[in-house]
Amino acid sequence: MCGIFTYCNFLVEKDRRAICDILVNALQRLEYRGYDSAGIGIDGDHEGEVLLFKQVGKVAALRQLIDSSNVDFTKTFFAQCSIAHTRWATHGQPSPINCHPLRSDKNNEFIVVHNGIVTNSPELRQVLQKRGYVFESETDTEAVAVLCKYIWDSQPSQRLTFTTLVKAVIKELEGSFAFVFKSIHFPNEVVTARRGSPLLIGVKTDKKLKVDFVDVELTQDQEKFGSTAATATPVAPTANGMLAPPTMAQSKIERQQSRAFLSDDGMPQPIEFFIASDASAVIEHTKRVLYLEDDDIAHIAEGELHIHRLRRDDNISAVRAIETLEIELAEIMKGKFDHFMQKEIYEQPESVVNTMRGRVNFDTRKITLGGLRSYLNVIRRCRRIVFCACGTSYHSCIATRAIFEELTEIPVSVELASDFLDRKTPIFRDDVCVFVSQSGETADTILAMRYCLERGALCVGVVNTVGSTISRESHCGIHINAGPEIGVASTKAYTSQYIALIMMAIQLSEDRISLTQRRNQIIDGLHELPGQIQKVLASDHLLQVFAKETLANSRSLLIMGRGFQYATCLEGALKIKEISYMHSEGILAGELKHGPLALIDENMPVIIIMTRDSLYPKVQSALAQVTARKGQPIIICNDDDDSINPKMKTIRVPRTVDCLQGLLNIIPLQLLSYHLAILNGFDVDFPRNLAKSVTTE
Ligand code: F6R
Repeated sequence: MCGIFTYCNFLVEKDRRAICDILVNALQRLEYRGYDSAGIGIDGDHEGEVLLFKQVGKVAALRQLIDSSNVDFTKTFFAQCSIAHTRWATHGQPSPINCHPLRSDKNNEFIVVHNGIVTNSPELRQVLQKRGYVFESETDTEAVAVLCKYIWDSQPSQRLTFTTLVKAVIKELEGSFAFVFKSIHFPNEVVTARRGSPLLIGVKTDKKLKVDFVDVELTQDQEKFGSTAATATPVAPTANGMLAPPTMAQSKIERQQSRAFLSDDGMPQPIEFFIASDASAVIEHTKRVLYLEDDDIAHIAEGELHIHRLRRDDNISAVRAIETLEIELAEIMKGKFDHFMQKEIYEQPESVVNTMRGRVNFDTRKITLGGLRSYLNVIRRCRRIVFCACGTSYHSCIATRAIFEELTEIPVSVELASDFLDRKTPIFRDDVCVFVSQSGETADTILAMRYCLERGALCVGVVNTVGSTISRESHCGIHINAGPEIGVASTKAYTSQYIALIMMAIQLSEDRISLTQRRNQIIDGLHELPGQIQKVLASDHLLQVFAKETLANSRSLLIMGRGFQYATCLEGALKIKEISYMHSEGILAGELKHGPLALIDENMPVIIIMTRDSLYPKVQSALAQVTARKGQPIIICNDDDDSINPKMKTIRVPRTVDCLQGLLNIIPLQLLSYHLAILNGFDVDFPRNLAKSVTTE
């Protein structure tokens, strides 16, 4: 959804121009997460002064606003912390006032950037307003900034540390969030906290890091602000309906060794920290990062990073390892392509190889998924497998369900994460639940996973983003290794998820001798796949012409198929609607007579997926029904299929094994959706109203 970024330098000289460039460039990298407005909060010319720049629209508009301001860009800072945000509106229209950073008051005493939703913000707002605090925006985040000020104002001695203050604030909040706080009362410091939304901290220093971890400071649970129990209801509905005065027990630090960044001689060293909601914003500065856990509160001050826990929790590790990111900057740049989506479609011959690399031995026809090794027998013995995901990831589950059942002989159900939760689906200890997610941060999928974890099921993650919540919280899993996917419309992640699930099914079935031939056929098919994808991509120009001459002016498009191709229909239709804004529907051809046939006439564009498999005769009959109603379908068929009437419009793709054919058939639909969006002048990488990672329910 939204993107958070923070830059802190200590003993590193930077002028204001350089600081603004670092912030704005990072926001540009995060723009794919949400992009209706953007803002930054930086230090002013005088101590205790914070400047805010906020602008509606893309990050380029914010850059213009900053450039046209009359601040002194040459002013230098040896130490400073600045925060930035790109927003995808959930509360309040996109407007400069609603844009982040949100502030506590006109003096910018506390400013906050936030991803996620604070669900009890209306109550907090009401109570704070009763106390005389004034609100200027419609956002949930503003209540958090104002709450900071309330707690600050309520401490007559004002001896709160920034961390203690933020802890007190966080304890009042419900919902999911990632925050960074900055304050004029704590110059050159920031505090960041997460619950349900991802955050990582990049560390850059010329000196070798003395340790490769940061110890977490476990503090004794503080009295909950405004009530006595740590888990009591939030502050707003207290007995008298008013915020109680803060009761800030001193926290007792039990473990404090996190002065990780001092040089060997114990002297402070030049260091920079980068806080971000995803690695793409940090990678150009440093590859050394640590991921925060839910309820971590990290404090950066005087060149040091300290991580505290909101409350004691024996299940959470007390160290945060400093990891090395494996992505390269080039991977998150567009290169020779006009759009990320186009680049990612074209990366598929390579990304599918990366998904299989080191896992598929094409000589011995053996598949080894290291991440599942210790759990294979548990999975083989389970009562059923539940696939759970959203959007495109859900379609990859539909695409592979049949082959999964065929190879494993275990019943598989496929669930949309939101509906799975709405239904409070019964889950048991002998279920295996597989959570498929490109980002690993989709709120519905994470909540569904936690629901299954609580019920004792084995939870398997199939994710692209290493270090994401699903990859960390699941028991085991598969990283699909498709590389960073920046385009909002998911393309290469789909094909890699699809392959990862097929590899999993093959490995689970390796003890079934009767299925050896079938497995070998699929593994041979996987071997051919990159070259075949390349061939489909070679027809891009034809698809472009096709899009222009046949579909560009249509208002609607039906995509029909059955069996393995039903998922292709759903996924193709999703691609078309999300970036070309054309209504499109994926239809199971077997259902045609039960309703959709009423839509067919000479004006309704229809694509029929008719590649060769056991259901081919049935799809032929659907084609006959469409043409009998004067429909003029476009047929996706195999390049060697000469049984199709030469007068029909066809899109030809190479032939592969039935269960892999969807990997080839989806590519013309990805390309068609891309061209339709371009022809209509739409912003392919930033489709309206959508964000890459949906981190709220
Ligand atoms: C569509 C698309 C979305 C995502 C969905 C789940 O192109 O990208 O439908 O597939 O939001 O996201 P992940 O896979 O990150 O859980």
